[in-house]
Amino acid sequence: MNVLGIDIGGSGIKGAPVDTEAGRLIEERLRVPTPQPSGPGEVAEAVAEIVEHFGWTGPVGVTFPGVVVNGVVRSAANVDRSWIGEDAAALFGGASVLNDADAAGVAEMTFGCGREERGTVLVLTFGTGIGSALFADGTLVPNTELGHLELHGKDAEHRASARAREEHELSWDQWAERVQEYLEHVEMLFSPSLIVIGGGASKKADKFLPHITIRTPVVPAALQNEAGIIGAALAARP
Ligand code: BGC
Repeated sequence: MNVLGIDIGGSGIKGAPVDTEAGRLIEERLRVPTPQPSGPGEVAEAVAEIVEHFGWTGPVGVTFPGVVVNGVVRSAANVDRSWIGEDAAALFGGASVLNDADAAGVAEMTFGCGREERGTVLVLTFGTGIGSALFADGTLVPNTELGHLELHGKDAEHRASARAREEHELSWDQWAERVQEYLEHVEMLFSPSLIVIGGGASKKADKFLPHITIRTPVVPAALQNEAGIIGAALAARP
């Protein structure tokens, strides 16, 4: 069936109708910049704009870049803090709402690199922040928030996200060193059988993945930046 998937990120909000059996977008996606300030009212307007653009009346799934429990937002590292405590599912008119990395992870596990992969799989998204989705034999453990592990006394995503690379003007090699260090830490904690790298950085995997030398196989996300939209849609299947 077709479901509208909307992916809310720190810099852009992207949406498209998705064929949830095939795991692909059926129309060209629409991207609107994340409003600033990025509070619930402003973001809800942007989401409504996407729904209207596609003239959508069917089910809608929405991702959010923070912890989401039963549709309620519990953290907001890269969007306005006024989101905390907001019932996002109600705000978006009864849409299914889940964490952005969890959505991307579910899409990768269903249609991408994680298909048929058992054991412990981690999908890590490198964008404005670092998102994480943890799977045990294909089952998601939601809201793991591994981007906020501490590295050198700092939040890991402040050192190793794609935004950190741009803000600190790091070369790909320099950034890869930080990603390597982060992945070593994650590997030590979880001993995964596979790590999938998603988010904006997955499109540039050839620039940094060759420098990554951990034991665990590390692969770029097959669905790249569309994983969030597809995962949002999967979450809203009736
Ligand atoms: C948030 C996560 C989110 C990630 C990627 C982090 O700062 O805490 O919930 O998945 O950024 O957007």
